[in-house]
Amino acid sequence: MTTDVVSERAVLAQIKRNRLPRHIAIIMDGNGRWAQKRKLPRIAGHRAGMRAVRQALEGCSQLGVPFLTLYAFSVENWKRPQREISLLMSLLREYLKKERAELKRRDIQLRVIGRVHELPHAVQKDLETALTATRDNSGLTLTLALNYGARTELVDAFRKMAEEGVRNGSVGWDEASISRNLYTEGMPDPDLLIRTSGEMRLSNFLLWQAAYAELWITEVLWPDFTRKDLFRAVSDFQKRERRYGGLG
Ligand code: FPP
Repeated sequence: MTTDVVSERAVLAQIKRNRLPRHIAIIMDGNGRWAQKRKLPRIAGHRAGMRAVRQALEGCSQLGVPFLTLYAFSVENWKRPQREISLLMSLLREYLKKERAELKRRDIQLRVIGRVHELPHAVQKDLETALTATRDNSGLTLTLALNYGARTELVDAFRKMAEEGVRNGSVGWDEASISRNLYTEGMPDPDLLIRTSGEMRLSNFLLWQAAYAELWITEVLWPDFTRKDLFRAVSDFQKRERRYGGLG
């Protein structure tokens, strides 16, 4: 048994199963830097990032965290070179094809948030197949944020609500009705938001939903992220006092 396995267990042992976050959201950052450090093309970092996706998913399954949301492609990422975008889309398709059976086997339900209709057709088709294959699963919900931006999400929600107002004469404009009209409808808000590679910002991710999320930022670059890092984040989360503006 390696030391690494021992310490992963040690971190795991600290976690109280009755105080788990219900929803963990992750900004997977640092793929490019990981590749650069190794003098590899950026896409090699994204490919290595797929392994870390598996680690995060396994960690959540092992703990029994019911919702995991991953920021895989933002509305701003279209500004990247066309070649990187195409390779990212190919990787995503590869992931969906390769992991579909595994997701089904592990009772994981796939969900997508973002302006999916603007993604390349081939990606939309693979997504549809994976969504259908996993739709009856009742274990963990894995949500991929694809062509996602929190401000875009709010615009889409407000448009929907305005249209509903026109159709039905009125619409309730309160926090609950806005939440219901977001892409994340029906999901609990994230309790824990993890960002890798040390950047201290939200980058337009789940701005409404993360209002009271506990933030956990690590210097670890996403391709190096392991189950142990996830367990560490959860363990730290359990030490925080969440007061929601009250006195605790
Ligand atoms: C940010 O790193 C990462 C992305 C924009 C893409 C995330 C994609 C993956 C992890 C691979 C595929 C994912 C799934 C769900 C199949 P960056 O490129 O901004 O890194 P840098 O800041 O170091 O340049």
